Amino acid sequence: MRTLEIAGGGRMPALGLGTWKAAPGVVGEAVREALRIGYRHIDCAAIYGNEAEIGAALADALRAGEVTRDELWITSKLWCNAHAYDDVAPALRKTLADLGLARLDLYLVHWPIAVRRDLVSAKAPGDFIPDSEVTLLDTWRGMEDAVADGLTRAIGVSNFSVKKLRELAPSARLNPAVNQVELHPYLQQRELVAYCHANDMAVTGYSPLGSSDRPAGMKREGEPALLDDPVISEVAAHHGASPAQVLIAWQLHQGLSVIPKSTHPARLQENFEARELILDPDDLEEIAALDLHRRYVDGAFWALPGGPHTLANLWDE
Ligand code: A2P
Repeated sequence: MRTLEIAGGGRMPALGLGTWKAAPGVVGEAVREALRIGYRHIDCAAIYGNEAEIGAALADALRAGEVTRDELWITSKLWCNAHAYDDVAPALRKTLADLGLARLDLYLVHWPIAVRRDLVSAKAPGDFIPDSEVTLLDTWRGMEDAVADGLTRAIGVSNFSVKKLRELAPSARLNPAVNQVELHPYLQQRELVAYCHANDMAVTGYSPLGSSDRPAGMKREGEPALLDDPVISEVAAHHGASPAQVLIAWQLHQGLSVIPKSTHPARLQENFEARELILDPDDLEEIAALDLHRRYVDGAFWALPGGPHTLANLWDE
């Protein structure tokens, strides 16, 4: 299994299982099946609302001796309503209790956005906590102290632009070890990947298959479907592989971590086998030409009229 060196945290299996949108009642069995297939990296988040069920599945597999804790790489994420310094450790402890773990391998700041602690999402401009009250550095101090307290091996961020990473760097005692961002052939993120890799930061690509099971409110009319892309299909046919396998192999080829989500055994298996697919230089060239700078998770839900966040200052582009 290909692994990536994570600053301060050992080695992370490059291919992991995504659990966003994996519904309660289904996610536990998907995790069990993934572990049987050989997945050792599970990507979780408090906001996905399914960590307790994932924890029960992990406990079953550990009890049955199918895996050891040391073989597993478990990531979770701090939700936006726990960005105040004093809220970070309690949020992480809740995640640990739900997952049934003493320590995470990696904990990420889910978004560079702070929401009031009694809310889950922001519906009005006043639902955000302004920078004058809580900065990203305050949140990051909480993350750093979580490492010192042994609650997680490594820490990182998600949905951070190069600009925000640069702003954090001079004051950080620990640099983010990972930046998890949306990444696929329609959003290749070359500049961001180059910056992260040059700064000892691994990149995990989310929505690698285009996340077609996103909630309706996050979909846009006429958006292109990555899994139906003719170039991807052609490359897949050439290798006797599936489009999903091409999309996963493309990320692994670039030294990225990738977390495709599925709750179906056959697809979990298919996605795991993408590790064996080697793409040719011609394939890579064709895929490189597909970049549309197209986000499926465009963050529009943070850009409320009159609020502090816009798509421009969220992505810094
Ligand atoms: P399902 O969970 O029903 O298998 P992403 O990882 O980009 O968020 O995409 C997840 C979506 O892709 C889900 O709808 C998932 O469906 C679907 N999916 C996962 N693996 C495959 C595959 N090998 N072929 C086609 N669709 C897949």
